[in-house]
Amino acid sequence: MQRRRLRPSSVAVLRSVLICAIATVSLVALLDVHVSPSSSSPFRAAYTLAKRHEIGYGSRRSELAWMQEMAPPQLSKAPTAFHQWDDTNQEASQESEKLWKPPSNHGGFVPCVKPTSSYSPPGESRGYLLVSTNGGLNQMRAGISDMVAIARIINATLVIPILDKSSFWQDSSNFSDVFDEDYFIHSLANDVKIMKKLPKEFAAATKSVKYFKSWSGIEYYRDKISQLWDYHKVIRAAKSDSRLANNNLPPDIQKLRCRAFYQALRFAPGIEGLGKLLVERMRSYGPFIALHLRYEKDMLAFSGCTYGLSASEADELTTIREIIPYWKVKDIDPMQQRSKGYCPLTPKEVGIFLSALGYPSNTPIYIAAGDIYGGDSHMVDLESHFPILMSKEKLASADELEPFRPYAAQMAALDYIVSVESDVFVSSYLGNMARAVEGHRRFLGHRRTITPDRKALVHLFDKIERGSIKEGKKLSDMTSEIHKRRQGSPRKRKGPISGTRGKERFRSEEAFYENPLPDCLCRSESDVTSSQRP
Ligand SMILES: *[C@@H]1O[C@H](CO)[C@@H](O)[C@H](O)[C@H]1NC(C)=O
Ligand SMILES: *[C@@H]1O[C@H](CO)[C@@H](O)[C@H](O)[C@H]1NC(C)=O
Repeated sequence: MQRRRLRPSSVAVLRSVLICAIATVSLVALLDVHVSPSSSSPFRAAYTLAKRHEIGYGSRRSELAWMQEMAPPQLSKAPTAFHQWDDTNQEASQESEKLWKPPSNHGGFVPCVKPTSSYSPPGESRGYLLVSTNGGLNQMRAGISDMVAIARIINATLVIPILDKSSFWQDSSNFSDVFDEDYFIHSLANDVKIMKKLPKEFAAATKSVKYFKSWSGIEYYRDKISQLWDYHKVIRAAKSDSRLANNNLPPDIQKLRCRAFYQALRFAPGIEGLGKLLVERMRSYGPFIALHLRYEKDMLAFSGCTYGLSASEADELTTIREIIPYWKVKDIDPMQQRSKGYCPLTPKEVGIFLSALGYPSNTPIYIAAGDIYGGDSHMVDLESHFPILMSKEKLASADELEPFRPYAAQMAALDYIVSVESDVFVSSYLGNMARAVEGHRRFLGHRRTITPDRKALVHLFDKIERGSIKEGKKLSDMTSEIHKRRQGSPRKRKGPISGTRGKERFRSEEAFYENPLPDCLCRSESDVTSSQRP
């Protein structure tokens, strides 16, 4: 009887508690403060939905740039919700430190990208540099940043580059659809002159079309390429990838590359806005992993990695590889590829891997990827380890995503933003996106970035398959040991592998934008001195 009488009032209490909760969440969302409800996932989902509903799907915060990194990392806001654990017992907080906090920053490195004292405004322009970029979003970003440096070296006026429209992704976006064009021009004004278009009077001028030699040093551009100005007013770079050496360039050129790549190439306001919203929504689930799951059709077809796929799937991929003319290697032994560690980890393997590293099954994971090959049929194996799998498609409404959907580069830019901002970034394959995100996270304060040792892992996975080892403590210890030094802590960029020659030597180097240390990251004391120079 008593219970019965209590029920209506308890419902009323519950209702007002819920209303309060929703109001609080929406207020918090409006104030743009981080919330991390620590309750179970369905309730979190309710929080998120309430929040979305209240603030409206359409709102785009285009003003705030996500790259507010110029404050030294120790001064910028703490990389997220660690306080969530601070008041719990010590063991738990050590555990959370091991999983989520940036790895120890020995040397206290901070960005140092200001020019040296001998740097001058751009010299008199000798002509125009037109650039046709090639590759996907991140290959283009690296290429564009290199071209900024090259324009500086040869005293060219850079014309806003033309984006690749013929790559695998067939994206028709123009520069200003992907990047904030005006910001790019203004923020590099002290480095190079940049124009949106080639002036009309030069449209008909004869152009020198050049494939700049791969990985060239400063002499090549200063002596050889600059000579072209004696005959031409317009030089067109027919390709933009890897045209500039990673190493042995003047400090001011290296710093300029960093200013271009990490700062000037901000995404267009609409992309930045939605990217920031995705980050906020992801944060409402608590500290999260962004997983670059490179398990997409093009990657698998290109690499010939068919492990774990059905025969008909493998056939489809082989056919794609055969018909794409610019993929030169056609005959691939999938098992050999895999055992050498050349294959992207499968969704199932990533699940085993992250569990073995100690991430609990309620860890929210943002899947940064295009369409996963085979869709749910392959994702279930990851989902069984980590049920809270999110993506831009799940976090944003159809309406919010609609303007970007037809454009692969713009969709990739959204994933890039969330990946850079995540607490932990993991890539299943070390491609251009993974390298760019890794470098960016190093630049912003060596945020935790886990690079799987795919070769070692494949051997462990094979043992699981054969039944000689099980998921559990032993696997966990071995996995953690292998990845102790693969968490993104500061170290110098790796030089070439000894014994390699020519192009192979350059190819074997760690890419400049993957690790801008020492050129653009300095110990905090030396940064103070360099920024005091005029
Ligand atoms: C570029 O301009 C600067 C300053 O005017 C000059 O010192 C330098 O020699 C020029 N470089 C080339 C390659 O023309
Ligand atoms: C890019 O620019 C060209 C030429 O101005 C235009 O025809 C095309 O529609 C633009 N692409 C997009 C996606 O807006």
